[in-house]
Amino acid sequence: LPLLVLNGPNLNLLGTREPETYGTQTLDDVRALTQERAAEHGLTVDVRQSNHEGELIDWIQEARTAHSGILINPAAYSHTSVAIRDALAAVDVPIVEVHISNIHRREEFRHHSYVSAVADAVIAGAGVDGYALGVEWLARRVQRRSA
Ligand code: DQA
Repeated sequence: LPLLVLNGPNLNLLGTREPETYGTQTLDDVRALTQERAAEHGLTVDVRQSNHEGELIDWIQEARTAHSGILINPAAYSHTSVAIRDALAAVDVPIVEVHISNIHRREEFRHHSYVSAVADAVIAGAGVDGYALGVEWLARRVQRRSA
């Protein structure tokens, strides 16, 4: 089953949005680099982005049967969404939370993520490399599970 790579609000603007914080690589670059890393492990990725909380929740629920792991950058919903947290808690696959920026070095309101308590691993501040690292970790975890 593919890995689900989920991106929350405003990440469609990646590459042009606050490049001093998020860099100049785009969501298409994220798609390419996660695809490449997954392929090294014989896996595929399903990369999606939405600005809508409910749509992200529907996709998380879909992963209950359709995906072998979830990498999620919940973006601003990290700091607000109990509903996304609860959806992730209902899925029995490994979960990695990724933030491009180091949220702990930024404004106080970004220091807490509702998602972190239900994530197996959290990566923050590694830039878009964090996606590749997260996929790598999920691939190892998934292969260990099915071995
Ligand atoms: C982010 C950090 C969040 O605080 C912010 O709202 C984002 C992106 C990151 O990847 O660094 O939109 O999740």
